[in-house]
Amino acid sequence: SMNADIKESFEKTKIAGSVAAGALDEVNKIIKPGITTGQIDKLCYEFINDHGGYSAPLFYRGFPKSCCTSTNHVVCHGIPSDKVLKEGDIVNVDVTAIKEGWHGDTSRTFEVGNTSVKAQKLVKTTYEAMMKAIAILKSGLHLGDIGSTIQKHVEANGFSVVQDFCGHGIGQTFHKEPNILHYGKSGTGERITEGMIFTIEPMINLGNYQTKILNDGWTAVTKDKSLSAQFEHTVGITKDSCEIFTKSKII
Ligand code: MF3
Ligand code: CO
Ligand code: CO
Repeated sequence: SMNADIKESFEKTKIAGSVAAGALDEVNKIIKPGITTGQIDKLCYEFINDHGGYSAPLFYRGFPKSCCTSTNHVVCHGIPSDKVLKEGDIVNVDVTAIKEGWHGDTSRTFEVGNTSVKAQKLVKTTYEAMMKAIAILKSGLHLGDIGSTIQKHVEANGFSVVQDFCGHGIGQTFHKEPNILHYGKSGTGERITEGMIFTIEPMINLGNYQTKILNDGWTAVTKDKSLSAQFEHTVGITKDSCEIFTKSKII
């Protein structure tokens, strides 16, 4: 069975992860055409604070808001603003809560009203890719097994995996080793061991995988302006599987 340090780190990450997931559950309730990404940010800020936590993104390396809101061709790190969401948009909301010094990091892509069939397929495939990778997790695998599982499912559906951003170790710091690539070859890379805590957060594009950063220094977009979706969970490795710390209580 797990040693006491691992047990404590899992318990603490689950507490922080539940707050982050709870914020997304609240976003799910209010999201609809006509609301702004700034309203989503305010909701996340207040939910996290009301639950005894802090938002990790707020002032992280100068980031100005409490969550990231990445709409349509925005891949990640979109900054909440007065931008009004409209019918047919897809928007990823990425929330990281700190509680008792531990981090929980999670994101979901929401569909605003009715979306195109293509957008629906992209969002579904991205979620499936993350969950397929989570389903294989156990100690003894290699990090490359994660990337290869995601890449195969994504490419079989005709989409592409972003290479410029990755998942990450997480704990008492927001981003730490190892990097979790969402593409790669099975059987390669570092071994996955019991007690590791990291995120899996594939960003998947409808078109080309390439990205660029806008002049605000944060917003990453697809170079070809095609749609991009993302989901993220924080997980902890056990001997035979993993624990998901950022599960939704409603979806
Ligand atoms: N939550 C993002 C991640 O999954 C990081 C956001 S950092 C910020 O790692 F500064 F952009 F908020
Ligand atoms: Co993350
Ligand atoms: Co995140």
